[in-house]
Amino acid sequence: MVPRASIRNVPHLERVILVGALRFAEEVTDLCRMADVEVAAWIEGLDRERADPTHLPPILWVDDQAAFEPDLPVLPAIGPVRRMGIMRRLVGEGRRLATLVHPSAVVSPTAVIEPGCVVCPLVVVGAHSRIGEGTILNRGSLVGHHTEVGRYSFLGPGANVAGMVTLGEQVYVGAGAIIRDHLRVGDRAVVGMGAAVVKDVPADVTVVGVPARPLERSAEAPS
Ligand SMILES: CC(C)(COP(=O)(O)OP(=O)(O)OC[C@H]1O[C@@H](n2cnc3c(N)ncnc32)[C@H](O)[C@@H]1OP(=O)(O)O)[C@@H](O)C(=O)NCCC(=O)NCCS
Repeated sequence: MVPRASIRNVPHLERVILVGALRFAEEVTDLCRMADVEVAAWIEGLDRERADPTHLPPILWVDDQAAFEPDLPVLPAIGPVRRMGIMRRLVGEGRRLATLVHPSAVVSPTAVIEPGCVVCPLVVVGAHSRIGEGTILNRGSLVGHHTEVGRYSFLGPGANVAGMVTLGEQVYVGAGAIIRDHLRVGDRAVVGMGAAVVKDVPADVTVVGVPARPLERSAEAPS
């Protein structure tokens, strides 16, 4: 039997709209199936050509989405942290944010998962941690205790953020990266896959390697 995921914060939810229309939307659609939640539509915000109303579920162009079942909440299904712009726009247009948590995720009862998060299989979130609005915790990522993850961030598969760490907003942590306890990572920073972060990372800086060092030029968060 397929384990059931759950939608938190919107009781008795039966249908939801995903924000995103590419491959990660397929993944979040699967998670929704596991929660017995129907995906009513996807929203595309970058390329009008991809907004295909004949696709199932229909792909809505962002400018037109407000007319489509306005009571349905949205879930992010765009990995890159630039999803914040479109998500905030939709909230400004009156959409609620749903939060999806896979049943194999272990979330401390003292942790706070803000609205609009997607918590994938095998994630662990420690005591008294806070996961900011619209953040995606990808498969098997670990968040230690008393750690703050700012809004619209992304932890890649197997990323390991230790305890008492503070990540700013729109931070991208690549697959398998490790961040040492007590550190601060600034807004929009990018941590490359496999990096071991042993010092604070300033805002807008990309770090890679073991120990992690800044790339000379900052990378845009991966798409
Ligand atoms: C850090 C990152 C964002 C940089 O991407 P980019 O801007 O396209 O950078 P490039 O691939 O051009 O690499 C630039 C340099 O950094 C090095 N580099 C890139 N990523 C690195 C990493 N994770 N660790 C060590 N070195 C890395 C490259 O070898 C290259 O070095 P060179 O200039 O000496 O040849 C990207 O490599 C990365 O780690 N992305 C995360 C991927 C991931 O976790 N995906 C999971 C999705 S679910």
